[in-house]
Amino acid sequence: MQPIAKFIAGLPKAELHVHLEGTLEAELKFELAARNAVDLPYADVEAMRASYVYHDLPSFLAIFYEGSFVLHQEADFRDLVYAYLKKVASQNVLYAEMFFDPQQHTDRGVPFATMIEGLTRGRLEAERDFGIRSQFILCFVRERSAQSAMAVFESALPYKHLIVGLGLDSDEKDNPPAKFAEIFRRGREEGFRLTMHCDVDQQNTHEHIRQAIEDIGVERIDHGANLLDRPELIAAAKERGLFFTVCPYANEMMRPGENQSIARGMLDLGLRLTLNSDDPAYMEGKYINENMLMAHELAGFGPEDFVTVSRNAFDAAWIDEDLRAELHGRLTAYAEAQLMVAR
Ligand code: ADE
Ligand code: ZN
Repeated sequence: MQPIAKFIAGLPKAELHVHLEGTLEAELKFELAARNAVDLPYADVEAMRASYVYHDLPSFLAIFYEGSFVLHQEADFRDLVYAYLKKVASQNVLYAEMFFDPQQHTDRGVPFATMIEGLTRGRLEAERDFGIRSQFILCFVRERSAQSAMAVFESALPYKHLIVGLGLDSDEKDNPPAKFAEIFRRGREEGFRLTMHCDVDQQNTHEHIRQAIEDIGVERIDHGANLLDRPELIAAAKERGLFFTVCPYANEMMRPGENQSIARGMLDLGLRLTLNSDDPAYMEGKYINENMLMAHELAGFGPEDFVTVSRNAFDAAWIDEDLRAELHGRLTAYAEAQLMVAR
């Protein structure tokens, strides 16, 4: 293994931008399809993976939503979370905040309770078996109506102790943050932390970023690359101490060859950058370590930069201060040992 890959592999990390449905690997999809008697139009996992061909956000989302149709029972949601956390625990992820899209499932008749109980069991069993800590972020699917989002929000309230934050994902075209302002206002009142996707190069992206920051008052932006085009947005993000959850593979998909300007650009401006995987099962199996390696190869990130990224992720995490201190302690010990050797 190259020294930088080894450094990344051993680095204590947090992942803050990963869609659980986007971690559903083809092997598990076949297993769940058999369990639930769902017919899949693919002969085997290779044929299924070969079908993951997309060129923009809507064509990606069509594939992503079709994949989630195999998730039905509590045990399916448990297995999904457990498999993801097992995988990233092996990559030295100490803490993860994972998105899930309830509307993908409640619309197919899966009760909210089935989903959240399965997810929670998977999370707790992974913590018991691998020591990895994690929480959930409920994401609203932005092309659905505000009423549909409000209905999901209401059904989540009895489980709010199991969900740390609210997010917004899926197709951004004609679906600005403002559409969900009332739900996010109520969410804040109920104690949820707030984040939103502002995907790369979307329609009205600068206005969407402005709304997310100024009108909604998010603490993080998922992606957010187009902020770099506007000095006033950069200033607003700095003033509020916003974090950015950037995903190198997804950047490459949306705007090839621009990780240098996006990830490196954010870091050089002193914005609080984190690196993440987004939808690894649909992105050639690139989990967080592979995304960090892309940041090295495509944007020249070195060991010190990765330590900064991990420190930012631990600061961005929606956790109590004891856990934060523990995570920082492990990072500092690693950085001191490794960077000393490198010098
Ligand atoms: N849902 C899953 N992955 C997504 C992404 N990268 N952007 C928006 N919605 C998503
Ligand atoms: Zn995402």
